[in-house]
Amino acid sequence: MAKTYSIAIDGPAGAGKSTIAKALAKELGYHYVDTGAIYRTVAYFLDLLGISPKDVDGVERYIDELTIEIEYDETGKQHMIMNGMDVSDDIRTQDISQKASLVSAHKVVRDMLLDMQRDVAKKHNVIMDGRDIGTVVLPKATVKVFLTATAEERAKRRTAELLAKGQKSDYAQTLKDIQQRDYQDMNRPIAPLKQAKDAVLLDTSELDIEGVIAAMKQIIGEKIAL
Ligand code: DC
Repeated sequence: MAKTYSIAIDGPAGAGKSTIAKALAKELGYHYVDTGAIYRTVAYFLDLLGISPKDVDGVERYIDELTIEIEYDETGKQHMIMNGMDVSDDIRTQDISQKASLVSAHKVVRDMLLDMQRDVAKKHNVIMDGRDIGTVVLPKATVKVFLTATAEERAKRRTAELLAKGQKSDYAQTLKDIQQRDYQDMNRPIAPLKQAKDAVLLDTSELDIEGVIAAMKQIIGEKIAL
């Protein structure tokens, strides 16, 4: 099989990982894999069954009844298929964000999703974003970037994004949600969010999207001929 390249982008919620990864994937012709969406699908499935994301026994009891497929449409958009049903839009709520963060702490969940993520990277050139891509999922990724910004800046962006979509949004609450998720994602015992030793740190607090893309291309260009 031809050698594949992988670009791992990790970082906290709201750092702009998916926006940047999506744009770069399009430009480079790579597969974009949003791994957060996979954890969100697990959280959504358990939520429908009324299982608390903290209830490890419940999670272990029902997880085998879940099948997840990742599909891509002609525009390159990733779709999450849960037991045959497209749930791509249903998983994008604030409630599911928090539940995904809690559910992703369980070993049984992380183990189930590991091979699924690695399989995509074996077959395609990928830009994969998440929390543990450079540390656990693809420790030999060609390029690793840790994308971050201050919690205040991330909350500001998220609030503006929701307002632009015509949805209600409250800065103080968004900041609180982001800080809570940061804490949970960084302090879980298995595969916590942290910068891989060989990852490049990119703080986007002072950059706009074009600036981040330019910085990313510079980092990628040092490892892969663009
Ligand atoms: O990237 P996101 O906000 O869609 O991710 C939702 C949650 O899923 C996040 O708070 C933690 C979890 N997650 C994870 O544990 N590991 C990943 N690689 C991606 C997401």
